[in-house]
Amino acid sequence: MNPDHNNENSDVGDVAAERVRIFDTTLRDGEQAPGFSMDRRAKLRMAHALEALGVDIIEAGFPSASPDDFASVSEIARVLRGPTVCGLARCHDNDIDACGRALEAARHARIHVFLSTSPLHREHKLNMSKQQVIDTACAAIERAKKLCHEVEFSAEDAMRTEPEYLVEVFSAAIAAGATTVNVPDTVGYTTPVEMAERITYLRQHVRGADRAIFSTHCHDDLGMAVANSLAGVAAGARQVECTINGIGERAGNASMEEVVMALRVRGAFFGVDTGIDARKLYPTSRLLTQLTGQPVARNKAVVGDNAFAHESGIHQHGMLKHRGTYEIMRPQDVGMGETRLVLGKHSGRHALRQRLQSLGHEVDEAAMDNVFARFKALADKKREVHDQDLEAIALGMDPEA
Ligand code: KIV
Ligand code: ZN
Repeated sequence: MNPDHNNENSDVGDVAAERVRIFDTTLRDGEQAPGFSMDRRAKLRMAHALEALGVDIIEAGFPSASPDDFASVSEIARVLRGPTVCGLARCHDNDIDACGRALEAARHARIHVFLSTSPLHREHKLNMSKQQVIDTACAAIERAKKLCHEVEFSAEDAMRTEPEYLVEVFSAAIAAGATTVNVPDTVGYTTPVEMAERITYLRQHVRGADRAIFSTHCHDDLGMAVANSLAGVAAGARQVECTINGIGERAGNASMEEVVMALRVRGAFFGVDTGIDARKLYPTSRLLTQLTGQPVARNKAVVGDNAFAHESGIHQHGMLKHRGTYEIMRPQDVGMGETRLVLGKHSGRHALRQRLQSLGHEVDEAAMDNVFARFKALADKKREVHDQDLEAIALGMDPEA
């Protein structure tokens, strides 16, 4: 085992620090969603991009899931020097031992063990009593702890688990050696108010709470994964589990770019930040779409094509006077280039005149009426009017010829 795994440097040392750790699970929870699988080369490429982005912990895979997953995790563990590399394990001896072996070469390693705690899962999936769940989790954490200093425990389906019982589970997990306790909203069922209340309650009642980091892991089945993660942070969670572009099981996981930019843009509200280099968010998002062949929606927050595009005349007029009228962050902040004033049927004279000027065409007021009318007629037929169309109109030519 790498001796660095025993350094008291990691989770527990800086519990009080007002920084939110970003735990990226694109290569595990993200990759296990239909349509998003990646081969080893793609995963390695993505892992390097995540390291450059400044992610604190990379969940590289589930080593016991397949020989290829094992190989991916060990390769990523061997080459990344900055972030902690994490592997997922069920509370099974074989899973935990495989994780330990896959992470052997890591500079900073973490084993992440999980077990369901909700009544529904205890009864129908595990067929275990409350005490059996606690005993099984603790035995797994103790085994993982012998292989790796950093051990995270996730109470799967935590948000549908009785709060008082969850206190007992996490108290036992910390006593057994867990350094991070994760509160997954496995089925994307919770609301922001509930998440804030749950994290507050757990931090107040879990024994040894000051020795562990509380973490959120939210799914997006009702479209609240990011809001729920942020509510957890506002209540004191100091790790957020998320993925690039929000990929993940079913409707996905909390999207990293949205969490990071919400904490940054609303920094005064949250009072905490991440270590992410936000200017790499867009390039990393693009890389993932190329590696998986799955594009993001045009209107996706932060990284979608329309995130910094304006077509309506009223908005374009405002933007030309002061960008703050309709933009709360700059595209450059997330590495995206320039704001786009898209010329279409909703656009007005100001934006048209400005674009013509930037193309080298000064149109006087008398000519502008005609140019504007021809532009509008064309815009009614096309989704977007391009620079070549405008040049043709300005030169009195037929843009459709
Ligand atoms: O959603 C979930 O509960 C998980 C756990 C393994 C953390 O992905
Ligand atoms: Zn999950």
